[in-house]
Amino acid sequence: MEHAEFAPRLLDWFERHGRHDLPWQHPRSPYRVWVAEIMLQQTQVATVIPYFQRFVDALPTLPLLAAANEDTVLALWSGLGYYSRARNLRAAAKRCATEHEGSLPDDLEALQALPGIGRSTAAAIRAQAFGRPDAILDGNVKRVLCRLFGIEGWPGERRIEQQLWTLAASLMPDERCADYTQAIMDFGATLCSRARPACAICPFSDDCEARLSSRVDSLPTPRPR
Ligand code: ADE
Repeated sequence: MEHAEFAPRLLDWFERHGRHDLPWQHPRSPYRVWVAEIMLQQTQVATVIPYFQRFVDALPTLPLLAAANEDTVLALWSGLGYYSRARNLRAAAKRCATEHEGSLPDDLEALQALPGIGRSTAAAIRAQAFGRPDAILDGNVKRVLCRLFGIEGWPGERRIEQQLWTLAASLMPDERCADYTQAIMDFGATLCSRARPACAICPFSDDCEARLSSRVDSLPTPRPR
């Protein structure tokens, strides 16, 4: 498959089967996208939704988060787990308050310099909140790319991961960056799932290297042991 064909076909799938009613999509603001992406780092969408709603109801803006005390933020996070995410979120808000005039920066380096924001989360925020064409690469995306392009080797390995970042960037469209980013996550989480991929209804089934060579169950390559 030509790389340029991937995004239009994925977006067409997203129109029909993707998630369009997530609370951080309506309204979509940098602050809301950021809070959601931090919650989604280790927690599934269905679990995150009520916590997200409660969090942004209590602390609707970045300056309010920056001014909140840690106990308040931890209480709002209570039940989600991985509490360093909540401490980092508050620390990052304080940095934004003093260093970025109370807003989340849109610059890639500045975003990645904030506690709790790695390369993929920075890209997810930029694409969804600022419409920038930065590719994400989380576990779901790695699985989709390894299968579709028949990439062998454990994706945790530096060389493979580098190859996947390059591929992810080459598939990223210049337009509809927010939809595309949500689409590839939804596609990986629902259709191209780890244990039960729905190849029979997949829009890429005729082009999927893993399927064409009966490697759907063996890709991505597991961690060597
Ligand atoms: N995982 C991380 N970000 C996500 C998002 N926006 N939607 C679904 N899963 C995600």
